[in-house]
Amino acid sequence: MKDLSVIILAAGKGVRMKSDLPKVVHRVCGREMINHVVESVKALEPSQVIVVVGYKSDVVKDALDKDVITVCQEPQLGTGHAVMQALPHVSKDAKRVLVLYGDTPLVRGETLKRLVDYHVGGGFGMTVLTVQMDNPEGYGRIIRGEGGSITGIVEHRDADSDQRKIREINSGIYCFDRERLVQGIGSIKNDNAQGEYYLTDIVEFLSDRGIIIGGCVLDDEQEIMGVNTKHQLSMVQKIMNKRNLIRLMEEGVIIDDPDSTYIDSTVAIGIDTRILPGTHIEGNTTIGQGNIIGPGVRIQNCTIGSGNEIEFSVVRDSDIGSLCKIGPYAHIRPGSSIKGGNRVGNFVEVKNSCLEEGSKVSHLSYIGDGDVGKGVNIGCGVVFVNYDGRKKHRTVVEDGAFIGCNVNLVAPVRVKKGAYIAAGSTITKDVGEYSLAIERGTQAEVKDWVKRKGLK
Ligand code: UD1
Ligand code: CA
Repeated sequence: MKDLSVIILAAGKGVRMKSDLPKVVHRVCGREMINHVVESVKALEPSQVIVVVGYKSDVVKDALDKDVITVCQEPQLGTGHAVMQALPHVSKDAKRVLVLYGDTPLVRGETLKRLVDYHVGGGFGMTVLTVQMDNPEGYGRIIRGEGGSITGIVEHRDADSDQRKIREINSGIYCFDRERLVQGIGSIKNDNAQGEYYLTDIVEFLSDRGIIIGGCVLDDEQEIMGVNTKHQLSMVQKIMNKRNLIRLMEEGVIIDDPDSTYIDSTVAIGIDTRILPGTHIEGNTTIGQGNIIGPGVRIQNCTIGSGNEIEFSVVRDSDIGSLCKIGPYAHIRPGSSIKGGNRVGNFVEVKNSCLEEGSKVSHLSYIGDGDVGKGVNIGCGVVFVNYDGRKKHRTVVEDGAFIGCNVNLVAPVRVKKGAYIAAGSTITKDVGEYSLAIERGTQAEVKDWVKRKGLK
């Protein structure tokens, strides 16, 4: 829509959130609230998106894509005042202006389209998106006149007891003819319970001047839920999570128990991957096809191939190839790359390390700052001793090497191709190709020691 400009209000502190962060950068399923709104708005292909920032504006600006325009509102004197700051930046070619708030992250692009179509189709000067709410507490109430057209919006705080009974509420999403917005904005005063310039006061001003205000009624009251408190944040998060799971199931993912599965809006998963209960998949994560993930897995910012099995494990900021078996109780920490066909078993921690194809670390080991080649077998209880108290050093284990149980590899050190390390050795020097390295004290035996001591 070339003739449409969008203004999103995001300058408020969000006092009721009781937080150091500006309200709109709190995340809902891995994405800042404001960016959920921006994403929905982009479905309309508007000519410009203007975000009004104010409280900790740098934090909000950092969260935003570079293609949105930001305008600063300082101090924050209310939603009407915020729109006043944005208006000079609205393109002269814009016939219509969509105004919405950055704290309603559940709103869908298709709903915004419907609002704009309703506005244009009805020939209104301004249209408000409204909804009937079972519990309208806290929201502005819609006042309708004789013929049913909207004549005013009264904030909850300013409403009398009769007005508080009205269940039709203001979603905070409006479509304006640009001239009407310009005409109305200057009229707003701050003589209300909050001492703020309410954008909603425009309605009465325009209605008094004979402009017909449309009310586009939405069925789904959840979609326009505003987040003012951390309780509301949790409710919105729950709804968004459910939406994400439904989308993924529609795309071919199997989810055994949607009630105990949490997947961010930023995650993509291929067909026939099965997600078992108690699993959290977060951040910038892409997962291929036919994996079995869970129960009890947390994955954050990872790229994962296909046909893997991962159970009761944590995997962060790492890449996993295909056909790996990970867990139970493995911890793959940032900067790791597990190439494919690997086994990373119980109580194994891998950090900033690479395991080439087919290598196995099956039990109780620490692989830190290591480069492990192909087809390497790492026994039980192996430790890559990577830290000398000041610096981290790397350990290299080349293709086909065999590291026995309970070996310490003291970095920097290199175990060359096909070498064997005997169990219990502490290796401090490089080991040559196909050699055996053994480092142990000689075993001593004291005959009848137990009897002499009178222990048996
Ligand atoms: C607002 C509406 C209310 C509606 C509800 C829907 C007004 C006066 N009231 O109330 O009718 O039912 O939303 O969720 O508009 N903001 C600024 N600058 C400011 C003040 C606020 O940019 O000076 C931004 C906030 O960052 C926020 C949005 O505007 O994203 C809404 O402000 P908020 O204080 O949450 O308004 P509500 O009390 O929820
Ligand atoms: Ca709000």
